[in-house]
Amino acid sequence: MIDFGLQSQGERGDGMAALDATDPGTGPVAVQRGVPVGAERRAAELYWDAFGRKLGPALNPPGKAVPFIAAHLNADRAVCALLDGQLVGLAGYQLGGRALTGGSASAVLRAYGHLGGLHRLLLLALFERRPAPGQLVMDGIAVAPDVRGRGVGSLLIEEVAAVAAEQDCRKIRLDVIDTNPRARALYERRGFTAVRTERTPYLRRLLGFGAVTTMHRPVEADGPRGLRTP
Ligand SMILES: CC(C)(COP(=O)(O)OP(=O)(O)OC[C@H]1O[C@@H](n2cnc3c(N)ncnc32)[C@H](O)[C@@H]1OP(=O)(O)O)[C@@H](O)C(=O)NCCC(=O)NCCS
Repeated sequence: MIDFGLQSQGERGDGMAALDATDPGTGPVAVQRGVPVGAERRAAELYWDAFGRKLGPALNPPGKAVPFIAAHLNADRAVCALLDGQLVGLAGYQLGGRALTGGSASAVLRAYGHLGGLHRLLLLALFERRPAPGQLVMDGIAVAPDVRGRGVGSLLIEEVAAVAAEQDCRKIRLDVIDTNPRARALYERRGFTAVRTERTPYLRRLLGFGAVTTMHRPVEADGPRGLRTP
């Protein structure tokens, strides 16, 4: 299984979650476990919209990347935000050796060809992150551009925290790149602290970032923290 840092159609998640937020001017945002059946393509588009720049060298062109991601989603490894029944955001996580985005090496080679596929596998390996025991790795949170800044990302983070608590994890871990200070600010506001930064200046030209900071948030035994709804 290739975990490309964000990480095939598996069993579904365990139903609707309890969180809800209402923003003036829009309807309520409902957060649920699992990518809804039929929304795989939309989920892949949201991912690509958010991470296409980072994943481009490995999965371009977009016309191939989006269907590849959609075809290899583990739908039960995400929490999703829906507005008027439309998928507007999702956060993927790794648990039990599976993450939201996947696809075997042979699937990459089948989709991209053996010659063109090999360097892609090497690039994808750069994004691999394995959780330590007791950790849930959150990899890839994306909210549709037109609903950003209204609390949807925060709701998704708290739902991932609820999953981590239910799974008896002690820690949530994520990586944030140096060119995304706003995402880092959001994580800090939601209780994550930086634990180490890996500098990779040689990747800046290829992937567009030169350092990756790992952040941790302890899992609260009494459930996720409260939310400031906007
Ligand atoms: C990061 C992201 C998931 C946040 O979702 P959101 O629904 O806007 O989050 P919230 O409304 O709960 O919080 C808003 C905060 O998120 C952060 N943020 C990061 N990128 C942002 C963006 N493009 N637009 C608005 N807020 C953004 C900011 O800290 C913002 O607070 P601010 O308004 O004080 O600057 C969303 O902006 C996104 O999908 N960005 C592109 C993908 C990405 O960068 N993912 C994180 C990779 S580590």
